[in-house]
Amino acid sequence: MDVIKKELKDTHLLLGVMGDPILHSKSPAMHMAALKATGVPGTYVPLHVTRNNLKDAIQGVRALGFRGVNVTVPHKVEVMKYVDVIDEGARYIGAVNTIVNDEGVLTGYNTDGIGYIRSLKEEAISDLRGKNVLVLGSGGAARGVIYALLKEGPAQVIVANRTASKSNELAQEWSQLGNIKGCSMDEVPDYVAGVDLLINTTSVGMYPDFQASPIKADLIPDGIVVSDLIYNPLKTELLRQAEMKGCVIHNGLGMFVYQGGYAFEYWTGLTAPIDAMREAVSESLN
Ligand code: ATR
Repeated sequence: MDVIKKELKDTHLLLGVMGDPILHSKSPAMHMAALKATGVPGTYVPLHVTRNNLKDAIQGVRALGFRGVNVTVPHKVEVMKYVDVIDEGARYIGAVNTIVNDEGVLTGYNTDGIGYIRSLKEEAISDLRGKNVLVLGSGGAARGVIYALLKEGPAQVIVANRTASKSNELAQEWSQLGNIKGCSMDEVPDYVAGVDLLINTTSVGMYPDFQASPIKADLIPDGIVVSDLIYNPLKTELLRQAEMKGCVIHNGLGMFVYQGGYAFEYWTGLTAPIDAMREAVSESLN
């Protein structure tokens, strides 16, 4: 474990997560476990912040001396107005999920995409260079994932969305970042051949809609890697079908853990205790 910096030992680190609703967030359990495992004195609290109060709440981060906060639904876009500096990735993605407070100067980051890619590489596919990837969905979650994915040097990223104009626009907007192409969900059959990795970023299949899947089972190529950002349930219908077709499957739990891990590293400068964090989330899911 890292040698804990003296200044961390001497202060009580204030951390939290702002959202609405926030009661069922797994972040407090995960970060309290991280603080405990690293021996850093601190507290991570759920902060119920409504849209009307977001600006004041961010000013409160400065006033109360919070070292940092996570920002979740529905504030990830709006909060960009109230921080002082926005990291390049967060600017591209158009959303902030982590704020670091350096003596009153707030910097906004997005750790969702990098957290996802880290988890994918650790758990399912170690090298994404030259891979053909099909991403389902082009909303906020997809933007984080695709931005981080393009940095890994895939051969091609196809983005399929129910509303094709959105995936086409995204592909056009990010054409400088890599080989990216948009299409509609109906065009998926034209693109599945040769895909190495299929990623679902839509909410289709999420609790309580267990039976739903974003694409028909016969469109999943045999033996590829299939990843779903959903972690409730841990095995979605898409992953269940993929498993039956001999695919390597990867769920969204690791993304959640690693996005938190990166945030913890930004706040403390320490290596995040990923195993302890994962264990705390898994326990809170039961
Ligand atoms: P998130 O931040 O979770 O990505 P979002 O920005 O609202 O949420 O994006 C949701 C994504 O899931 C979109 O790509 C959406 O498709 P549309 O742009 O056509 O709305 C996709 N999605 C949601 N429900 C869907 C459904 N029933 N079938 C197909 N795609 C769906």
